[in-house]
Amino acid sequence: MSFDDVVELAKRRGFFWPSFMIYGGSSGFYDYGPLGTLLKDNIINLWKKEYAREGAVFLDTPVISPADVFRASGHLEKFSDIAVKCPKCGTPYKLESLLKGLGITEIAKTVEEASAILEKYDVKCPKCGERLKNPYDFNLMFRIGTNDLYLRPETAQGIFINFKNIYNYARNSMPIIVCQVGKGFRNEISPRQALIRMREFSQAEVEVFYLNGDDFPVPDSYADLSLLRNTGELQKMKVSDALRSGIIGNRVMAYFLNKTYDILLKLGFKQDRIRAREHDPGERAHYSSETWDFEYLLDGDWIEIVGVSDRGTYDLGRHQQFSGENLQIDGKTPKVIEPSYGVDRILLTIMDSSYYKRDNGYKVLRLEPHIAPVHLAVFPLQKKDNLDRIARDLFDRIKAVDPFIFYDDGGNIGRRYARQDEIGTPYCVTVDYQSKEDGTVTIRERDSTSQVRISMDELIERTKYFPDSFTELFKQ
Ligand code: GAP
Repeated sequence: MSFDDVVELAKRRGFFWPSFMIYGGSSGFYDYGPLGTLLKDNIINLWKKEYAREGAVFLDTPVISPADVFRASGHLEKFSDIAVKCPKCGTPYKLESLLKGLGITEIAKTVEEASAILEKYDVKCPKCGERLKNPYDFNLMFRIGTNDLYLRPETAQGIFINFKNIYNYARNSMPIIVCQVGKGFRNEISPRQALIRMREFSQAEVEVFYLNGDDFPVPDSYADLSLLRNTGELQKMKVSDALRSGIIGNRVMAYFLNKTYDILLKLGFKQDRIRAREHDPGERAHYSSETWDFEYLLDGDWIEIVGVSDRGTYDLGRHQQFSGENLQIDGKTPKVIEPSYGVDRILLTIMDSSYYKRDNGYKVLRLEPHIAPVHLAVFPLQKKDNLDRIARDLFDRIKAVDPFIFYDDGGNIGRRYARQDEIGTPYCVTVDYQSKEDGTVTIRERDSTSQVRISMDELIERTKYFPDSFTELFKQ
């Protein structure tokens, strides 16, 4: 299915849609609907559990920060894109995307270089054909009113400035893994592709503070990764081999590249649709000495969904310098590896990778059961002969164990299956005439469409251990 099909599904079935539509919309803002809200929560919860298993702790800090924070972090000075505005029709462009779209691979690091590239390739406005000139630096941060306050462009700074509080909380032990999920805000020049480039978005960020890389073992059993190096070489290799041969710069980076890959696979990404791409030195953010982006192949284009950066001692060093607070441990500044997940991009690309058409033409969203917004749907075969009452009673019993279920008695059973398949519900339970006789129901699995019959009591028991108990049922 195409990207447009996914966006159409999202709107029609209540995953997400553009915000403020009754007032004409505002580019770069999206609402999550009933199913999207649940899917987003499930993605975040899986991520949280995975990092909790690593011993991580979690923070929740303000989205608004005083300018001092971003003066220290370097965002006030350096967090900008080069933009160019068409002198005739006024359309603004992010230069990097404009050039990429035109097949120009040169990257401009300064406004002067950008001017030279525009002139060299005689770049014209894609909308009206006017020649583009006079590029400029555009800071991506939103300033609030006339106060010296800004909306945060990443959640990370709230973690860095709390380092000492967390260190005390952790009873002075290192390494420390600190996570935060929350909104980030960027005044993107040209928001695009629905949830891919927004002005308000959700990040799930991890800052790994360490003094000694040996705390993170990288065994040979770790996964094979598709690594696209900044030399252009694409290699599928073990994380441990990539570390040994110096392709990955240090063991903490290697450990968390492996961890990130593992989480993406658990979320349901297929290996052949993701890769880790190394940034060119000129492309890296101002705080990074090494960055690998996990990218997903969307609509023929590789899109960054998670960025893993080596921030070294940059942030703690700068905050120490600007605040005057001692952020060192025994005279040493801890180093940082940061896996930064874009929740919205993950949600959209998971939907893209899961959406397909069966041979019979029906559409299915093959979400992993543990992230599906609706776990089970309950149907009476017919809305008569007491089947609907039995189904309602069963629905209420299941709801007491797992509330993320849905009741449907509208239309024929085939249509009801199709409606659930399209939103990714992994199992449908049907109450039929045999249920009246022996208290059993059928459970249909979304992907295989195969069915098994079990008692209602067993169903309730299995619901307590969703989804593993259901997966097992269909393995038997
Ligand atoms: N703290 C590091 C940081 O913010 P980033 O690569 O700029 O790094 C991390 O952002 C992730 O946030 C990206 O991989 C992407 O998934 C997501 N992201 C960044 N800008 C976004 C935007 N405008 N809209 C949606 N997601 C965005």
